[in-house]
Amino acid sequence: MKGVVLAGGLGTRLHPLTKVTNKHLLPVYNRPMIYYPIQTLVNAGIHEILIVTGGNNAGDFLRLLGNGKEFGLQHLGYTYQEGEGGIADALRLAEHFAEGEAVCVMLGDNIIEGNVLRAAQAFRKQQVGAKILLKEVKDPQRFGVPVLEGERVVKIEEKPANPRSTYAVTGIYFYDSRVFEIIKTLKPSGRGELEITDVNNAYIQAGQLTWDVLDGWWTDAGTIESLLLANQLVAQSGANKLDVGAASVRQGA
Ligand code: G1P
Repeated sequence: MKGVVLAGGLGTRLHPLTKVTNKHLLPVYNRPMIYYPIQTLVNAGIHEILIVTGGNNAGDFLRLLGNGKEFGLQHLGYTYQEGEGGIADALRLAEHFAEGEAVCVMLGDNIIEGNVLRAAQAFRKQQVGAKILLKEVKDPQRFGVPVLEGERVVKIEEKPANPRSTYAVTGIYFYDSRVFEIIKTLKPSGRGELEITDVNNAYIQAGQLTWDVLDGWWTDAGTIESLLLANQLVAQSGANKLDVGAASVRQGA
């Protein structure tokens, strides 16, 4: 399985912090934001990673991350998203990189306390379809929200005014290679973007979406409030784990 970190977008909800830089380069406690999703993928045993970025600061990712040596990697891939087509449009650019393999996709502003090793192992066994990770939250209306019937996710609603569950769909997704065919069938949403929620709904309609609940805390960092929360959570509990993860990968290499 390969990994894709989506790190484009204008980060308008963080203005003026993002006026002259990319959101994913902003600090979260003692690391630039993008370090956390990369480390999460590496900790799940995923070593072939593509960064999708865009905008005016794409070169800064290369200067910051190089070939991923700090994460115990030998190589990192980069690609560039023209315009602001949304999350699914950014993922489209990973088709040639995936080369028919499954992918674990992580939004560059998602930070977790634990790891996704168990979910990655389960998805390797699943082989076809998709897997999403859910987390119970106080403000589901900010996220993709699953509609549950018993144990089954029957639909995901993007930022619903009246959420039908207390779960958020986190920005960590597992897809088989059919994801790129699904993206080609999508139409832009009301906000003019190709939505990842529409990708997930296509898998639901095909009866091929599984889900797990993520252990430990999870947050995005795309608003001033959530960026502050991410800093606090990492400062309290997560900061040292990054070093441990990187060190163990280096030892294993
Ligand atoms: C995106 C997705 C949403 C998901 C969230 C997780 O929202 O569209 O479904 O719950 O990421 O961080 P965005 O943060 O781009 O508004």
